[in-house]
Amino acid sequence: MTTPIHAAPPAGSPEGAGPAALLSVRDLTMAFPGRRSATGRRGAPVRAVDGVSFDLAAGETLGLVGESGCGKSTTGRMLVRLLEPTSGSVVFDGRDVTRLSQRALRPLRRDVQMVFQDPHSSLNPRQTVSRIISDPLLVQGWSAADARRRAAELMELVGLIPEHIDRYPHEFSGGQAQRIGIARSLATGPRLIVADEPVSALDVSVQAQIVNLMERLREELGLSYVFIAHDLSVVKRVSDRVAVMYLGRIVEIGAKRDLYDTPQHPYTRALLSAVPLPDPAAERRRERIVLLGDPPSPAAPPPGCSFHPRCPKAQEVCRTERPLLRIAASREVACHFPGD
Ligand SMILES: Nc1ncnc2c1ncn2[C@@H]1O[C@H](COP(=O)(O)OP(=O)(O)OP(=O)(O)O)[C@@H](O)[C@H]1O
Ligand code: SF4
Ligand SMILES: [Mg+2]
Repeated sequence: MTTPIHAAPPAGSPEGAGPAALLSVRDLTMAFPGRRSATGRRGAPVRAVDGVSFDLAAGETLGLVGESGCGKSTTGRMLVRLLEPTSGSVVFDGRDVTRLSQRALRPLRRDVQMVFQDPHSSLNPRQTVSRIISDPLLVQGWSAADARRRAAELMELVGLIPEHIDRYPHEFSGGQAQRIGIARSLATGPRLIVADEPVSALDVSVQAQIVNLMERLREELGLSYVFIAHDLSVVKRVSDRVAVMYLGRIVEIGAKRDLYDTPQHPYTRALLSAVPLPDPAAERRRERIVLLGDPPSPAAPPPGCSFHPRCPKAQEVCRTERPLLRIAASREVACHFPGD
């Protein structure tokens, strides 16, 4: 039995979310123009993100998961306004930042920062660490000397040796380079960090160190994270709540424990069934749900529930009626038949 949602704050939201949330995202949509064919005709727009809504409280981490191409990065880039949404709103600390001019965006650039997947390619190889970390401060009007001093402090904060401040990115390992990326993101004293696959490009042994660092920084600095990753074990470790995306939409969102212990959406169940379990007995009992085929193109999403061509539970109504997010088992699920 499910209950439709009418109120603005989504279920599974932090208590008191809505007006009090640090970040409120409503109906966020990104439709990229379709590709031109050889005859010059433009194809259907690619709805990479299609009506995404969620809240994030101060100090909270929301994990964003889903298969490649489901719209995670596009969502993250719209949150920090690296991409202009086609429609919808992003309200940060009570202020709609969706359509601000570049000039009016300055305070947002201070408060909201992004950490990228590949540390080496996201750092300018021709700049020293000092310059890389100082850059956001220089943009905010700091003097070069103050910015350099702050860069050295930040290096220490993220576990780098401040004496290496005049080195170049190639002189650092992948893990160290990601620490530089994190230090740069912290330079302006942000309150929210959107981390897009921050550990996926790193060796497994280094991943845990970076995750530990991000958790420590969250506590010490009172940060909030939107943590994008395809590794569900990493997301389980860092998140308070988790949102599962499929073909540009959130299909399940709720408290981490609810979602991992009793996934309600067939897609979430399939994703989680692929995660190895630490307990050997449970691992032996683990049943994999293998999804057929690849996700459809966001340029031509299937009618009804966009997951229906791959869903083991699909019924007739799924082919025609799009399920909206509704409360089921203490979280929100977009499925006509949630649960077992
Ligand atoms: N600039 C663009 N123009 C057209 N289509 C785009 C553009 N950027 C992304 N897309 C398409 O939008 C969809 C979502 O892409 P996005 O990069 O957000 O997915 P993702 O979930 O981050 O995937 P991954 O896990 O591989 O990083 C994909 O179909 C992608 O091809
Ligand atoms: S709505 Fe139907 S097709 Fe979609 S996930 Fe639920 S059961 Fe599967
Ligand atoms: Mg991505």
